[in-house]
Amino acid sequence: MKNIVILISGGGSNMAAIVRAAQQQDWARTLGARVAAVVSNKADAKGLEFARSQGIATEALDHKGFASRDDFDAALMQLIDRHQPALVVLAGFMRILTPGFVTHYAGRLLNIHPSLLPAFTGLHTHQRAIDAGCKFAGATVHQVTAELDVGPILEQAVVPVLPGDTADTLAARVLTQEHVIYPRAIAALLRA
Ligand code: GAR
Repeated sequence: MKNIVILISGGGSNMAAIVRAAQQQDWARTLGARVAAVVSNKADAKGLEFARSQGIATEALDHKGFASRDDFDAALMQLIDRHQPALVVLAGFMRILTPGFVTHYAGRLLNIHPSLLPAFTGLHTHQRAIDAGCKFAGATVHQVTAELDVGPILEQAVVPVLPGDTADTLAARVLTQEHVIYPRAIAALLRA
C-alpha cells in the first residue's frame, strides 16, 4: 500500500477533500494508496479533528519547541518517515521547509499554492492578484523543490476575479477549485 502523509497547519479543507476523494474513489482498491497520517505543526489545527473522525492517525509537532528550523524539520522527517510515505502532501502547511527536508522527499513532495504560478509566490496571493488588476486567479499543484513555490506544475485551476472581490471572496472561490485539483493531481501521480 502506498502511504500518503498530509501536512496541515489549520482548517485542513484540502486535506479533507483528499480524504473524501480517497474514500469515494476507493483509492485503496483502485490505486493501492491510502491517507496514512495527517500531521500538523499546530496541536489545535481544526483539520486534525476531521482526520481523527475518519479514523486516520494524527500527529502534532509544535515548531515552537525547537531551537532551529533544521531541528524542527529533522524531527518532522522522523515522524513522517514512521509512516513510510510514498507521497508527502503539503495542504496549507504554513512553514518554509529546509533544503534537507525537500531533498529527503524529492519527487514525492507536493504543494498547493493559491495562485496561478509562477505569478504571486509567497503570501497574500489573492490581495496581490486584486491589486494587480488580474482578471483571473487560481491555484496550482506543484512538485516541491528547494526554491519556495517553484517546481514542476502538475495541475492548475483558473477562476475569474469579479468586480467587488475582496481577498476573502476570491480566496473562497479559489479554494473550491483547490478541492477539485488537489485530489485529481494526487490520483494522477499515483497512477503514473
Ligand atoms: C489553501 O488556500 C492553500 O492553497 C494555502 O492555504 C490554504 C489552506 O487551506 N496554502 C498556502 O498559502 C501555502 N503557501 P486549508 O487548510 O483549508 O486546506
